[in-house]
Amino acid sequence: MPVGRIDLTAILPVDSFEACNRQAETGFTMLADDSFRQLLDHFDRSWSGYRKVRKGVKKRLYRHMQQLGCRRMSDYLAVLEKDRHSRRMCEQLLTVSISRFFRDRPLWDCLARNLLPEMAARYPQRLTIWSAGCACGEEAYSFQIVWARLKHNCRSLPDLYLVATDTNREILDRARLGVYRASSLREVPEEWIAAHFLPLKKKKIYQIRPSLQRGIIWMQHDFLTEPPQVMFNIIFLRNNLLTYYRKSLQQAALDKIVRQLSQPGLLIVGSREKCPSDAGGLTRSPDAVGVFWKR
Ligand SMILES: C[S@@+](CC[C@H](N)C(=O)[O-])C[C@H]1O[C@@H](n2cnc3c(N)ncnc32)[C@H](O)[C@@H]1O
Repeated sequence: MPVGRIDLTAILPVDSFEACNRQAETGFTMLADDSFRQLLDHFDRSWSGYRKVRKGVKKRLYRHMQQLGCRRMSDYLAVLEKDRHSRRMCEQLLTVSISRFFRDRPLWDCLARNLLPEMAARYPQRLTIWSAGCACGEEAYSFQIVWARLKHNCRSLPDLYLVATDTNREILDRARLGVYRASSLREVPEEWIAAHFLPLKKKKIYQIRPSLQRGIIWMQHDFLTEPPQVMFNIIFLRNNLLTYYRKSLQQAALDKIVRQLSQPGLLIVGSREKCPSDAGGLTRSPDAVGVFWKR
């Protein structure tokens, strides 16, 4: 995909390290925490999930409030109640797309070494994978890299059906483009960078190789609604539902998602996330943090 004429720096995903730096630079934001918490309550979001990343989110929301001529949170909430477009926009502004390649590195090592060979043996025809809340594609492409490397070493692997979804259309467009700052690749070994990425702008920016872009099905989808009507063998649900939403919303969404998981199947959540223990007969895998079996 040609990227030469696009202003890459303006559209690149933000990783957590850069987000923290930028937050330190931006300093004071105009939206008070109390007002922000009021908004989070309105959308059933979790304060503890947003606490660390709130500066950037508050800044975006404040700008939106200004555009709508709302000085107080109560005015803003009144507009959001009446105007679907503004509400949708606010929901998009609440999304946090911080990610990076091979986030939680031990998980990916365990997938490559144990879990994927086991799943491939169990489903020799086709393996179906869902990256739910995929942000700018770092997770889906990390999977593609691991799979490509397994393929190189194995005589036969199942066909792959990889679906990556996010509620935010703009973020999905960036995912399709597959262009990242070098800092998003800091957990990727040098040798893998050389094999799977194309360096641009004096190695400040990298594009995922087109061979790894092929075959991913990108879809706009809200995981609070009905999941795609496909049974998945592995579902990545990391650093979104269980971090940014309140418990009251989590359980119902999780139940629906786990229903789309095959038996055996793997649900993978973030390494710092707590998966409710009564979620659809899941058992914690001893192999890696955040991995649950449905057997
Ligand atoms: C912090 S990123 C996590 C990306 C990746 N899963 C990871 O762990 O690195 C959270 C992503 O979840 C998406 N998201 C949040 N709520 C969602 C929803 N209801 N449905 C689908 N995606 C959602 C956001 O748009 C954002 O891109």
